[in-house]
Amino acid sequence: MSASSDGAAPIQSRTPVATPAPLRGQDALARLAARYLAVRQASLDLAAPLSAEDQVVQSMPDASPVKWHLAHTTWFFETFVLSPHAPAWKPFDPGFAYLFNSYYEAVGPRQPRPARGLLTRPPLERVHAYRRQVDRAMLDLLAAPPKTGRDAIVDLVALGLAHEEQHQELILMDVLHLFGQSPLRPTYDEAAPGAGLAPEPAGWVGFDDGEAEIGHDGAGFAFDNETPRHRTLLAPFRLADRLVTNGEWMAFMADGGYERPQFWLSDGWACAQAEGWTAPLYWRRDGEAWTALTLAGPGPVDPDAPVEHVSYYEADAFARWAGKRLPTEAEWERAAAHPDLRQMSGDLWQWTASAYAPYPGFRPDPGAVGEYNGKFMVNQMVLRGGCFASPRGHVRATYRNFFYPHQRWMFSGVRLAEDAAPPARRRGGAGARLDAPFAADVLNGLAQPQKTIPAKYFYDDEGSRLFEAITALPEYYPTRQETALLADIADDLAAALSDGAALVEYGSGASTKTQLVLDAAPQVALYVPIDISPDALRQAAQRLADRYPGLQVAPLAADFTRPLHLPPEALKRPRTGFFPGSTIGNFDPEDAIRLLGVIRGQLGEGAQLIVGVDLAKDEATLTAAYDDAQGVTAAFNKNLVVRINRELGGDLDPDAFDHRAVWNAAASRMEMHLVSRRDQTLRVAGKVFAIAKGETIHTENSYKFTIERLAQLAGQAGWRLLRHWRSPAPSVAIALLG
Ligand code: SAH
Ligand code: AVI
Repeated sequence: MSASSDGAAPIQSRTPVATPAPLRGQDALARLAARYLAVRQASLDLAAPLSAEDQVVQSMPDASPVKWHLAHTTWFFETFVLSPHAPAWKPFDPGFAYLFNSYYEAVGPRQPRPARGLLTRPPLERVHAYRRQVDRAMLDLLAAPPKTGRDAIVDLVALGLAHEEQHQELILMDVLHLFGQSPLRPTYDEAAPGAGLAPEPAGWVGFDDGEAEIGHDGAGFAFDNETPRHRTLLAPFRLADRLVTNGEWMAFMADGGYERPQFWLSDGWACAQAEGWTAPLYWRRDGEAWTALTLAGPGPVDPDAPVEHVSYYEADAFARWAGKRLPTEAEWERAAAHPDLRQMSGDLWQWTASAYAPYPGFRPDPGAVGEYNGKFMVNQMVLRGGCFASPRGHVRATYRNFFYPHQRWMFSGVRLAEDAAPPARRRGGAGARLDAPFAADVLNGLAQPQKTIPAKYFYDDEGSRLFEAITALPEYYPTRQETALLADIADDLAAALSDGAALVEYGSGASTKTQLVLDAAPQVALYVPIDISPDALRQAAQRLADRYPGLQVAPLAADFTRPLHLPPEALKRPRTGFFPGSTIGNFDPEDAIRLLGVIRGQLGEGAQLIVGVDLAKDEATLTAAYDDAQGVTAAFNKNLVVRINRELGGDLDPDAFDHRAVWNAAASRMEMHLVSRRDQTLRVAGKVFAIAKGETIHTENSYKFTIERLAQLAGQAGWRLLRHWRSPAPSVAIALLG
């Protein structure tokens, strides 16, 4: 009885599993009766904002009229509970068996599903009378069930209630679809709930390989399709810690996501063409902006809200565009309880890459209720997690929803997954994949009044190489000064490192400075370099592993501004963080405090952090360091333009920009900008931005500190400044925080 087959329940099978029955006493029956009343009332409450006309119409074969849902759920109790188990029950209306059977072959012929909207009779009030009469008989039965049939009745009522809850969600889906056909774009309920926001950038949560058990364990109610519980084998994988947002979906659209067949499955592409898809269902273009219809009415598409009403085909195409994939249902279930994963349950159904098939050993129940799920186990895909429209308590981690891959009127969203050991093809060069956060950050940054791109995107392969070249420039004093200072104080730092310690470096780059610490501190057993630039990281990690044979090296290619997990071996050791190079200066103060706090959380109680910062000094020294005579810093800055062109399908002319480095005394920071040499348009990921002559793209801040300022920021993040050391001019400082 999937939504697609029944048009009724997006739900599936509901056969209660054969488990030891829970309490069967009078109390349990009274509780079941109370729940029965509450669930039945909830269906009426959902219909309350609707007129009688709203409740008759069927907007497409997959959807059903609300009146039909109200009658069919009642028919279910009449057919499967009252008829076999209540001896005094007389059919309310013999014609209803034909009208309101959904798909049960064993129960007889039925009104064709696409013609449910033609049933202007019986009128709505007769369906309400039907509900009342069945409810009275059901309550009588639960008050005094026949001794022999009691367990079967309890199981069937549990199934009937779960069935009705599935239809409650269908009512909302079908009403929204109906209203979506109206040029008036009616509002169902201004106060209707929706999916929650998760505007922060997506982080990734990793899972090890190994066996995982999935499926329902038999405690409490489950549909038969969730059983039997069984073992699966998983390769290491990562899940995005939130759902894909509308903003990211717009980047996909702007990059020709709906026009470029290379992202699409063949069936999906054919479907997108035939249906003329250019955006998620219910989106409409209003001038430059997109609006969407939700249950709460029409409104602007919120870039921070999760994208909804996309088909499997679209979800899969998006994932391919982003260089990721959809999770399998086993991965999803294995990860379901992880505390760092947001929006796992109750926001939007999440498409999985798994076909809806029987679990090994699955046996549908005998009899008509065995038709609930088993017969739909082909050609559909599984969705997990439930949504805001699912009745509270209805969905479990093991719950398997299923729909056809072309359907999109359910409240469906997208969570990305990736293999934990990405193959080499994912690196830069001609075969580079689009990176969804990069696309979203660039598109968002270019849309701001002061165009801005986060500095972390400098560091592709070429950017990392250019940064190393900068460190050797006569004008760029910070690396030289900090290296010399580290050499001087290496023994002091080494004294702070425990035996068997793990050294965790944030933004390790070439790991050159690290060697000064490791040379002085042979007691360090594990080195965890973290960097956003995978090739630079790999090379540095290899070099250090070769140079220090006794040292375990566990590199982590990650953006440290997003949630990350230190390798398990690091968690077993005393930990010291290393954050040199004044990379902390590339963050605005609030972000720097947040980052220092996150690092503190990662390293844990009792950890220490060695931070290097550049100190404020005269403007001439500073500007020379960021605008060198050989133009290496200019090339570093302009390489961002080249990267945008390559990875985001941009058409920017690197020669149409000048490099500018300015000292902002009020903010105590060096700024780097790309200055447009002329009025021009910038096309990025299919989107067009105007930039005027002299207008800039702000590409980097590099804050310059005093010791007091550093102590203050560290203090706000929960650290204490234990010691600090200062170099000769041009001065930089190293601080030990604890
Ligand atoms: N620590 C080295 C390199 C500093 S350059 C030194 O002191 O010389 C900054 C380094 O941080 C680069 O290697 C860059 O790739 C990395 N980086 C910048 N932003 C990052 C982020 N958000 N996450 C992880 N690494 C980042
Ligand atoms: C990595 N970071 C601290 C360098 C800095 O000085 O802000 C990056 C850099 N930008 C221009 N030159 C070097």
